[in-house]
Amino acid sequence: MSHPVHTDFQPAIPKTRSFSEAVRAELEQICARYPKREAALLPALRLLEREFGMVDPPGMIHVADLLGVSPAKVFGVFSFYTHYRRPTDGQYVFQVCSTLSCAMGGSEGITDHLCHKLGIPVGGTTADGMFSVKKVECLANCDQAPTLQVNDDFVDRVTPADCDRMIAEARAAGPAFPAAKDYHPVGYRPPAQVYHLPEHAAKGKGMLLNHALEAGSDTLAHYRARGGYETARALYQSERPPEEIIDLVLQAGLRGRGGAGFPTGQKWKFLAKNDKPRYLVINADESEPGTFKDKMLIDRDPHQLLEGILVSAYALRSQTSYIYIRGEFPEGFRTLARAIDDAYAAGFLGANAFETGKRIDITVHRGAGAYICGEETGLLSSLEGGRGHPKIKPPFPAVEGLFRCPTIVNNVETICAVTHIVKHGPQWFRQWGTEKSPGTKIFSISGDVGSRLLRDPPRHAAERLHLRRLRRHPRWQEAEGRHPRRVVCAGAVRGRGLAR
Ligand SMILES: Cc1cc2nc3c(=O)[nH]c(=O)nc-3n(C[C@H](O)[C@H](O)[C@H](O)COP(=O)(O)O)c2cc1C
Ligand code: FES
Repeated sequence: MSHPVHTDFQPAIPKTRSFSEAVRAELEQICARYPKREAALLPALRLLEREFGMVDPPGMIHVADLLGVSPAKVFGVFSFYTHYRRPTDGQYVFQVCSTLSCAMGGSEGITDHLCHKLGIPVGGTTADGMFSVKKVECLANCDQAPTLQVNDDFVDRVTPADCDRMIAEARAAGPAFPAAKDYHPVGYRPPAQVYHLPEHAAKGKGMLLNHALEAGSDTLAHYRARGGYETARALYQSERPPEEIIDLVLQAGLRGRGGAGFPTGQKWKFLAKNDKPRYLVINADESEPGTFKDKMLIDRDPHQLLEGILVSAYALRSQTSYIYIRGEFPEGFRTLARAIDDAYAAGFLGANAFETGKRIDITVHRGAGAYICGEETGLLSSLEGGRGHPKIKPPFPAVEGLFRCPTIVNNVETICAVTHIVKHGPQWFRQWGTEKSPGTKIFSISGDVGSRLLRDPPRHAAERLHLRRLRRHPRWQEAEGRHPRRVVCAGAVRGRGLAR
């Protein structure tokens, strides 16, 4: 997100800021989820946003005081991240995606229209402090291009007429901040997102997306009705050696779905054996342009991820897990926070998980707009409450990671697959994919193609399908015989350029 370059709007900033007693108590509860208070720095800045509508210098000094760090530290961290609300931001910030698929879908025209209509440049704020327009990088909503966010909410396939309507409705609704208790800005909200999937996933022929479109698929009741948490329960109540579970994952040949494709079981075996706590960190930073798979898994099936974490944490003998979710997924953050609360209430998490006397904790931690925090060591720096600077390896996180303790970082899709492997066995998982890379793989297809979808079939089938669809597209046919065609198929284990 770019910072305002010009604005006539001059907000009134008080000399000091102070949270209410209730918010201080909330901050203490957040701090208790980390071994070091300063790890609560990013969430504390979110509290400033929620309570005061912005992160400003007096607010940062207050946070520094509460967390026991210097104001310079807070200022330094804040300035690294682009997603926090600055004092010069309007009540409603239109964040228009300017990355490839949205650009192909006409996002430049949408930005121009908003700026023209509001009389401000990109990065500017209207003099009444109501609206700002910003260009942002890929929002992981590429199949709905061109897309934008109005504060927290996504707007799919946005048109100039939608922009006019939103401006009028926001004016009528009035200010959006301070936000609600769940951090949701008040005032105007666009209609909720509609999710799309190919037919085969809805018919249960994939693996991870089979239930994503069913009504209530994000609830605990829905997940339990389809056998959810029974794999984790059986495991926790079994006394099975954790190494057995690592071996199952090794035999299944599961490779990381976050980009590098490293064999998951092998990585788990590298976890250092010492008496320090072991952490499992889920990478939900999904910022790679053109990928929008983890967002769907989080928004529509959060308990599938939580059970995957429980099963993986058992294998790793880890008591504490963190899900690091990209700042631009506020709804995903709320969905996961709700799902985690429900899992605690059901006794699947907490001091007596599945009535075994074992303690298991999961915390969702929201980032704040920094692409580099998808890289695992940058992510860990950010999770510790710092700027998201990557660290030199070795040591690898499995030896010295979060809070200098042995840490496994895995992608959302990777961890979701683990429960299925343990439940059905490695051979079942190997019915899909190839010898060296078994299982299904979710492909994100968007851009100048006939249909823009998420796909969860075996990998080679997905590539063939992708090409077939592209070849049917009029623009492909137009270009036939004139010049080579290139397509970027992101969201794979690695992006794939296909040329002919
Ligand atoms: C610049 C950069 C950005 C990355 N972004 C992501 C990301 O958004 N999500 C992700 O899961 N992995 C991302 N990765 C890969 C992670 O560093 C890490 O390898 C991955 O989370 C490990 O999980 P996996 O083994 O399950 O794939 C990125 C790597 C780099 C170098
Ligand atoms: S959401 Fe615009 S390119 Fe991904």
